[in-house]
Amino acid sequence: MSDEQPKLPNRQTPFSEAFKEFICTDWEPYSDELPAPVEAAAFAAQRRDAISALFPDARIVVPAGGLKVRSNDTDFRYRPHSAFAHLTGLGTDREPDAVLVLEPVDGPDGPDGPGGHEPTLYFKPRAPRTDQEFYADARYGEMWVGQRESLDEMAALCGFACAPISQLDDHLAKNADSTQIRVLRDADAAITARVDELRAGTEQASELDDELQVALSELRLVKDSWEAEQMRKACAATAIGFEAVVADLPEAVKRGRGERWVEGIFGLHARHQGNAVGYDTIAAAGDHANTLHWIGNDGDVKDGDLLLLDAGVELDSLYTADITRTLPISGRFTPDQRKVYEAVLEAQQAGIDAAQPGATFSDVHAAAIAVVAKYLHEWGMLPVTPEESLSENGGQHRRWMVHGTSHHLGIDVHDCAQARTENYRQGVLKPGMVITVEPGIYFRATDLLVPEELRGIGVRIEDDILITEDGNEILSSALPRDPDELEAWMAPLMRGEQA
Ligand code: GLY
Ligand code: MN
Ligand code: MN
Repeated sequence: MSDEQPKLPNRQTPFSEAFKEFICTDWEPYSDELPAPVEAAAFAAQRRDAISALFPDARIVVPAGGLKVRSNDTDFRYRPHSAFAHLTGLGTDREPDAVLVLEPVDGPDGPDGPGGHEPTLYFKPRAPRTDQEFYADARYGEMWVGQRESLDEMAALCGFACAPISQLDDHLAKNADSTQIRVLRDADAAITARVDELRAGTEQASELDDELQVALSELRLVKDSWEAEQMRKACAATAIGFEAVVADLPEAVKRGRGERWVEGIFGLHARHQGNAVGYDTIAAAGDHANTLHWIGNDGDVKDGDLLLLDAGVELDSLYTADITRTLPISGRFTPDQRKVYEAVLEAQQAGIDAAQPGATFSDVHAAAIAVVAKYLHEWGMLPVTPEESLSENGGQHRRWMVHGTSHHLGIDVHDCAQARTENYRQGVLKPGMVITVEPGIYFRATDLLVPEELRGIGVRIEDDILITEDGNEILSSALPRDPDELEAWMAPLMRGEQA
């Protein structure tokens, strides 16, 4: 359920009886026309079928999660749990405190037949305008948050039955002692606690729930065709944000605290093109690029430095891109910057080349990191041979690239994170998977092992790769990577001309 907000009696003016009578009169009736199903409705049905087949006898409970207090009486903008969005097809801000329940149903041959599951979405439908909620509820009232769905409207959007959240508990409790119940634990603490109470003393609840969590995560490893298209669109929207940043680089230099300017320009386009940024933008100029999750973004953007911009637009469907470009702020790389950049690019290309159906996820990292180690050795920084560094007992090269090369990408920027190791890190790449390939080399200004002229240079190049039947598709290829092409792309943008 949503976090509790504090009561603020000093700010609430009581409503008079006259107001209460007056406020509910003379409103146009709600339209009888039902909305079209959400775009992903048919795909979401297939995803529910896949989970149903894995747990034929279980009542499966997948909450959306509630509103989270940001501070005092102000909430964060709402975002549903990714598994809920995946199984319902609902995106953006739908639907705080909703719960999807998949109820096992008997097949034609009785309880052991393949009956599948009946989905029901429990949520808080909009109250009639005669209800105080209409004007007095800052979280759910139409006067505060806009028009919300009725039961019929939500059912039309999702393509399956909906019921009021007030009926959820009866459903959860029904035959609870003879029904296996599995709940997605991390979505809504109150629902989890209630399910635990109902199951008390029955089965190995945490094991049941762990299996569900893993299955929901692994269900997203291979994207369906609609999801692949969302990822293409997320990358295209992100490219627009990057172009806007490059066009405004001279302004970011002029204004001071330019990293914030960069973050703001990208954020503007993320909100305009999609729902939001898929994760906090990393706008890291100069030595800040060597802090992997630099999101403070309060530094200057200076001519002669590099800007590492790691940013992604999350669409209204909640699918996000995750792209990094390392840009020369003046528009031209210095020879030292180019040397590091080209090494990272070679490593990235080796990773992309290895991202083939049938290869393993870890093959991609192995290919990229071998190139990184080769250059670190060539530049005299590795205390051992590249082979020794790359061996299990070595790892010295990791001082300059401590992160992995890839992760799955989708509704979550680090998608499918609960998948089992054998299906993730040791897993085989399959058509429909989307991964990043994002090697980097990070030379902190204070690193005495780095040749002096390279200190303070940090480079990462990150692209989003769809594994296809016969190779891969670089979803983010609209943004150039080759250093000459990158400079040629930047120049007209920085002069204020269209690319
Ligand atoms: N932007 C986070 C990452 O690249 O994984
Ligand atoms: Mn990434
Ligand atoms: Mn990234």
